[in-house]
Amino acid sequence: MYFLDRRPPRPITDALRATVLEDLPELAHIRDEELRHKAIEAWAYALAETDFPRLTAIPGEATPGVFALKRGSQAVHLRSVARISMAIADEFAQEFPEAVVDRDIVLAGALLHDVGKAWEFDPANRRRWEADKSQAGSPALRHPVYGAHVCIAVGLPEEIVHIALGHSYEGDLMQRSLECLIVHRADHMWWSIAGGFGLLKAETAGMLEGRKITPRGLRPPKERERQDDKGERADAAG
Ligand SMILES: [Fe+2]
Repeated sequence: MYFLDRRPPRPITDALRATVLEDLPELAHIRDEELRHKAIEAWAYALAETDFPRLTAIPGEATPGVFALKRGSQAVHLRSVARISMAIADEFAQEFPEAVVDRDIVLAGALLHDVGKAWEFDPANRRRWEADKSQAGSPALRHPVYGAHVCIAVGLPEEIVHIALGHSYEGDLMQRSLECLIVHRADHMWWSIAGGFGLLKAETAGMLEGRKITPRGLRPPKERERQDDKGERADAAG
């Protein structure tokens, strides 16, 4: 398929931009106004190139078929990685006031690191790649590469492009920035810890064995309800 022959992107509307902010509310905490707007634009641009109506429609998986959450979408992963990345940055900055880190780049980079996944997970793309892997490969581009394209297309700074490209294995070929290193470690840790908690579908989590991680069993649904009841009562009392 020639790139110029691809299905036309959906229009990037304010309604689509609004869903991005609804699904990733942490975007509102990016202090630099231009960076915040462009981060929202990047996700809207990425979604418009696919059939996904919004971010929460993208499956919660590391790559297609690998580390699939038993429940929860890609937004759960992104928000959690963003909070963990910020916690890492703030922990070091508070303990070592002489340490320099760009919090805005960490936050925007964490919320955008998987922006290429809309395209990598798009059902029409996957069907095309699967039909003949000899044609353009499968996937034609992994999400870090496509994510870097999206970030460049909307005019994000190279620090963010670098995080989109370098947060995964592609980054092993480069010297990562400090902000990229933080997002990279938070991201990889997230999938490993999710595996340790038993939150990943077993048939997608074979790689855990190589990492010497044993998934723990989940709380049975009935016990979970009782726990929730207790929590609610405690909240009401408090
Ligand atoms: Fe990720």
